[in-house]
Amino acid sequence: MSDLEQLERDLETKIIAAETLAALEDVRVSALGKKGVVSERMKTLGKMTPEERKEMGPALNGLKERVAAAIEAKREALEEAALDQRLASEKIDVTLPTRPEPKGKIHPVSQVMEEIAVIFAAMGFDIAEGPDIEDDFHNFTALNFPPDHPAREMHDTFFFEPKEDGSRMLLRTHTSPVQIRTMMSKKPPIRIIIPGRTFRCDSDQTHTPMFHQVEGLVVDRETHMGHLKGTLEAFAKAYFELDTVQTRFRPHFFPFTEPSAEMDIGYERIGNEIRIGQGEKWMEILGCGMVHPNVLANCGLDPDEYQGFAFGMGVDRLAMLKYGIPDLRDFFAADARWLEHYGFEAADQPNLATGLSR
Ligand code: PHE
Repeated sequence: MSDLEQLERDLETKIIAAETLAALEDVRVSALGKKGVVSERMKTLGKMTPEERKEMGPALNGLKERVAAAIEAKREALEEAALDQRLASEKIDVTLPTRPEPKGKIHPVSQVMEEIAVIFAAMGFDIAEGPDIEDDFHNFTALNFPPDHPAREMHDTFFFEPKEDGSRMLLRTHTSPVQIRTMMSKKPPIRIIIPGRTFRCDSDQTHTPMFHQVEGLVVDRETHMGHLKGTLEAFAKAYFELDTVQTRFRPHFFPFTEPSAEMDIGYERIGNEIRIGQGEKWMEILGCGMVHPNVLANCGLDPDEYQGFAFGMGVDRLAMLKYGIPDLRDFFAADARWLEHYGFEAADQPNLATGLSR
């Protein structure tokens, strides 16, 4: 092996061995720097004979270029490795949540209240509310309940202790008193739904002493039964998210509506499962009717000028039906495991564009 070949090998070995940019720079200076081994060799060319120079010149130049290229390639590799290492050590995973995962779920009653509100909001209804503690006038009398109506009796209604004048406040037995409050405080057109808590002395698999209703009230000059049916049929399809939901209106009695009806939806029972939108069976989901002329008059509205319809539905029962929840009493047992199972994600707000439920 010639002297030059040996020198090139040595330099190559050093370049390969350089593990940092600083070490590589030392190699470069020791080879190609002013006093480097290659530079020193170049200086010897001047003292050579023309023949020697003709041979050694290109050989030395070739060596110098190859060494410079090898150093450059190594520098790039080292820089790239340094960058990779920096990227790895400075990495921030921006996809990680900045806060802990949300804990807790939305209760099915809240979810269903929201779903119902979204459906009626899209039809142009406003939301109205009233107090849980009512007086006899708003809960019964103004709603055309006769003085001896059984719903006024102790076994249905939670009464408070009588006041000095003998009158008793009560826990409202339905959301209908808010119909009265609304009609007494604002002129038609009225188009509202009334979500709220209601109370009756009752408890079994499908009844709890406190439960939830959504009331509806529409009053205008020409509001008629066709509007009632169209609104509630559209509601049933939207709520169950099924176009095949069948509805049927059956004559019924409420003191505050005339005519009155209950709306049933068609279903089928397969084993323990209730399938809505198919089958031959009917189940009641709400009460409704045309606002009784006496009720309009009790609120100061002229029944010859105005007419309207009203409806009331049990929110808890609608939640049980849609989400297959077997026992109503569990709704209010405050069991975190139950809520974890039947609850809804807080971020999934019901809306008609992407679907009410997910
Ligand atoms: N208030 C009735 C109930 O609780 C429901 C209802 C509301 C019926 C409005 C007709 C009109 O059963």
